[in-house]
Amino acid sequence: MIEFTNEVIRSYYEDIVVSTDLTKAILYSVDAGGKRLRPLLFLMLLEGFGISLQNDHYRIAASIEMVHTGSLIHDDLPAMDNDDYRRGKLTNHKKFDEATAILAGDALFLDAFGLLASSKLADDKIVQLVGLLSDSSGSRGMVGGQALDIKGECQTLKEVDLVAIHSNKTGKLLAFPFIAAGIISDLDEKGMALLNKAGQLIGLAFQVRDDILDVTATFSEIGKTPNKDLAAKKTTYPSLFGLDKSITILNQSLEEVLLIFSNFEKTHQFDSQAIKTIIERLRFNA
Ligand code: IPE
Ligand code: IPE
Ligand code: MG
Ligand code: MG
Ligand code: MG
Repeated sequence: MIEFTNEVIRSYYEDIVVSTDLTKAILYSVDAGGKRLRPLLFLMLLEGFGISLQNDHYRIAASIEMVHTGSLIHDDLPAMDNDDYRRGKLTNHKKFDEATAILAGDALFLDAFGLLASSKLADDKIVQLVGLLSDSSGSRGMVGGQALDIKGECQTLKEVDLVAIHSNKTGKLLAFPFIAAGIISDLDEKGMALLNKAGQLIGLAFQVRDDILDVTATFSEIGKTPNKDLAAKKTTYPSLFGLDKSITILNQSLEEVLLIFSNFEKTHQFDSQAIKTIIERLRFNA
């Protein structure tokens, strides 16, 4: 499933190459690994609806991962979080140079839309997905959240501010798989509202989890420098609520999502077993 997604990204960059240096830098970060959670959620949700996966679905899965990988390359830049390691390897700007890393991120953001638009699903669905990916990743989503995150450094933020940062910088792109799967499977309005809610909860929970891992995990577990948030004076869930309460918040959000899927399954043609397994894996058992 994920190997197909990786293959779609790789073949996109084999087709037409203007700058081999640029393509090399892009594929360095793509091939560095990563959990591939966003494409996995998307593809699992489609399977839950009984849809048999085709190349056109993998193109959409690949487009989410491309935006995400681009966001990590930019997040690590000296002007942003200034990280040396990502996915267990040197960050893009350390391996290459800053200009290359900026351009690799730019290319991944824009190429994602071309790849998504090349999917041969019904035109009206592709148009909706293009709009949704833009809303999830641009100034109304990830990039907007990153702007709030950088502005919030060295400031004591309140919970409401932190929720705004987290749900935009991370939450919206993680909610994309849920809403996109609903669009593709012609889901009714009530079902859409439930998937939307599940996506938002997972999205916020995932950044809470990332904040927890920043203070609890080792380099080899996360493949990036631990304790970066403290060093950058960022407000995080552990800094605001303490570690124990943050873990409780994470696990409660996951419980809520599991409950949504249990109810969703009763009212819709949907098998939630696989998606529940992935959600379970996000639990933090301290
Ligand atoms: C890290 O995302 C950055 C956040 C948005 C929290 P992931 O934890 O999904 O990173 P990879 O893709 O596995 O490297
Ligand atoms: C990143 O949040 C969110 C993105 C949009 C990339 P973080 O800055 O906490 O992610 P990590 O910890 O560097 O992966
Ligand atoms: Mg950051
Ligand atoms: Mg960072
Ligand atoms: Mg982090």
